[in-house]
Amino acid sequence: MALPDLEAFPARTWGSLVARHGYHMQPWLRGFLPPAGYPPLRQAIARYLSTARGVRCIPEQVFITGGSQQGLALTGQVLLNPGDAVWMEDPGYRGAQAALQSAEARIVPVPVDAEGLSVAEGVRRAPNARLAYVTPSHQFPLGMAMSLRRRLDLLEWAHRTGGWILEDDYDSEFRYRGRPLTALQGLDEGQRVLYTGTFSKVLFPALRLGYLVVPQPLTQAFGAAAFTVGAPPPILEQLVLTDFLTEGHFERHLRRMRRLYAERQEAVLQAAAVHLNGMLELQPDEVGMHLVGWLPEGADDRAVSERAIAQEVRAQPLSNHRIEPGGRGGLLLGYAGFPIPALQAAIRTLAETLHNP
Ligand SMILES: Cc1ncc(COP(=O)(O)O)c(C=O)c1O
Repeated sequence: MALPDLEAFPARTWGSLVARHGYHMQPWLRGFLPPAGYPPLRQAIARYLSTARGVRCIPEQVFITGGSQQGLALTGQVLLNPGDAVWMEDPGYRGAQAALQSAEARIVPVPVDAEGLSVAEGVRRAPNARLAYVTPSHQFPLGMAMSLRRRLDLLEWAHRTGGWILEDDYDSEFRYRGRPLTALQGLDEGQRVLYTGTFSKVLFPALRLGYLVVPQPLTQAFGAAAFTVGAPPPILEQLVLTDFLTEGHFERHLRRMRRLYAERQEAVLQAAAVHLNGMLELQPDEVGMHLVGWLPEGADDRAVSERAIAQEVRAQPLSNHRIEPGGRGGLLLGYAGFPIPALQAAIRTLAETLHNP
């Protein structure tokens, strides 16, 4: 999975906030906290999501989670009964599939095309699915944005059938070009969309912090479920993150990372144009932390990936993210976490691997 740059993390700022709260934590904060999370952090996230992502919510709808994986599992626990059909993008994020399967849901793979998840195909395969899992800002792993028409079709389906939509907005903070697309949740007039996000990509994955925004009528049910699973994450990290967000450090860090990752993506594209021509087809992406490299028709991406790993280049095969087998092979090239010389070297190694099957 694509990692952020772990070295560029502003450790000094974070460390001074840890010291501040470690020493000066108010005694009442050492007691039991609301299971939905530290209220000022819920407020800060609600404010951030409404300005940056067009999400419409009040802080009471925001649940602090131990990363989106926990938000997905919580959603399955509250909304799904064993055997309920769930639409999953195919190819798609297998972590979400695992989380929803743990609620004994019946996973229904739904193909994606240039406009995102095919709503018509979902309706054909399972018209009364209970939930649709989607990554509309930046489809994982292929990278397209869901078109407005599809978004409206999906919302119409949810309103008509009483289905739920689970929007995973996992890396849309890293937009380098083009017009920012607001969240699908912001288009929803009927309270059918749950929205999850994570700090794994914008800060670092081991932090295990994310959020889930639920429609207002579901806040009580999610509050009860959060209580039983023992969420939220530790208070010290929540206090630190609150200040990190409200004191402007987060915005500053994002701006720096956007610049850095845009340069890195550009470097990968340039190196690929020189070394990988005809062997791996790469397109620029306006968003995110990885690129998809398409192999020639019929190539076995798992075999290529294994050969690349033997040369110490990690490029996940696209097949790993397919639910139904078949389709063109490709490699996922995570570029955000590596300096440019390392990326250039990796592209050269990949070219040698592809040249010498
Ligand atoms: C589509 C998608 N959603 C969510 C996540 C992050 O999950 P978490 O917040 O549990 O680290 C990832 C991580 O790679 C992802 O690819």
